[in-house]
Amino acid sequence: MASFQSLPGFRDFYPEEFSRRQHIFRVWRQGASAFGFQEYDAPVLEPLELYKTKSGDEIEAQLFSFTDKGGREVALRPEMTPTVCRMVGAKAGALKRPIKWFSIAEFYRYERAQKGRLRAFNQFNADIFGEAGPEAEIELIALLIQCLNGFGLTKDDFYIRLSDRDLWFFYLEALGLNENQARGILSAIDRYEKMGDDAFTGYTEVHGELAAATKEKVLTFLKIKSLGELESTLAPFKSDKLAVRLADWRKVLGGLAAMKLNDFVAVDLGVVRGLAYYTGFVFEAFDRKGDLRALAGGGRYNDLVKKLGGPDLPAVGFAIGDVTTGLLLEQRGLTPRFVTAPDIYVVIGGELERAAAFGDIHALRGAGWRVEYPFKELAFGKQFKAASESGAKLALIYGGDELAKGVVKIRDLTDRSEQEVPRDQVLVCVRDFLSGH
Ligand code: HAM
Repeated sequence: MASFQSLPGFRDFYPEEFSRRQHIFRVWRQGASAFGFQEYDAPVLEPLELYKTKSGDEIEAQLFSFTDKGGREVALRPEMTPTVCRMVGAKAGALKRPIKWFSIAEFYRYERAQKGRLRAFNQFNADIFGEAGPEAEIELIALLIQCLNGFGLTKDDFYIRLSDRDLWFFYLEALGLNENQARGILSAIDRYEKMGDDAFTGYTEVHGELAAATKEKVLTFLKIKSLGELESTLAPFKSDKLAVRLADWRKVLGGLAAMKLNDFVAVDLGVVRGLAYYTGFVFEAFDRKGDLRALAGGGRYNDLVKKLGGPDLPAVGFAIGDVTTGLLLEQRGLTPRFVTAPDIYVVIGGELERAAAFGDIHALRGAGWRVEYPFKELAFGKQFKAASESGAKLALIYGGDELAKGVVKIRDLTDRSEQEVPRDQVLVCVRDFLSGH
């Protein structure tokens, strides 16, 4: 007989994995709520056109796309950014600024499966629309840090590499490169970490040989590790554009330092981001050990809302993935214990007692307690074993003798002490007992 498995890169979430995922979602949601972001959701299936040219060649090649029965070209969403731009763009006039939105959703990319990369994964997306200044970057980077701190991860576990595509363009322009050549350099830099010097082969194929002095200056820029170094490297260029960008850098790093988050952020111009729509600051979060792929990525994308037919609306945002986050939590022993224990296990004598017990079981559940009982008639010994194995804190015993006396026995499963309580007092007594624990 054929045995069916989930598709490569897709996950089954058995209850234990599901509870881990819920924990991750809960921490993200708490972070977003503390920062005053509002939650939204969107369709899983979108017109293919939404991603064409907007997301970039890499994502376009990874789309799960097909023609639907009405002849429409559609794609499973590979990311949220174009969708949220479409949504915000359509109602921008009616939304209070700044627009701070978040979502938790599943995405699909036909990637080669590898550690930390799957074909279906979840992301927490947080974006701010309508704020052109670097205040939005401060808010979002602080939120990103909070969303990882919320798991118990510290500055020793992860950090954020902050970079700037505008700064790159202005710097390359000051070095005498035109926009086309600058784009070529940025895609070489995107590959540089993985490929080393070979990354520039693609550039020379398209744009011709890169002057040795220019390449040297590009590599120097890549090595910059602090705002001070950035300022001194750029000082000889008397460019207004560069001066304005540097002022924004001071604001972002100053704001984060005032929040005591400076240890989480590294100046690192090696991050340029593969997605096509980024315009200014870009950033990525990584584990400190460097074992894992990126935990999160984002940046400013001031042109995308307009490109998708909306108004001219500045925007910046990021997404954290659940796969790398889950791997990092596991590595650091921060995965929560899987708890299935009920509060109360009900031990039932026979069929007659079952009817009496059912009334109380339903009332206890209605009061919010987690209550279990055996479906079938069982010897008392077996039921007590099941009760203690269940992890419940107390057992309620509905035996023939007890019911004849109009009482129920409460057994403390931690020390096995017992007491009898009148049947009509069960709810109150259980509440007193469990709230004392
Ligand atoms: P991204 O860098 O493509 O950005 O993805 C963000 C995060 O999602 C990654 O850092 C990674 O943790 C996770 N991720 C991406 N692809 C996969 C995969 N195949 N398997 C597992 N995890 C994955 C974006 O998606 C942008 N739309 C983020 C953004 C929001 N920019 C502005 N707003």
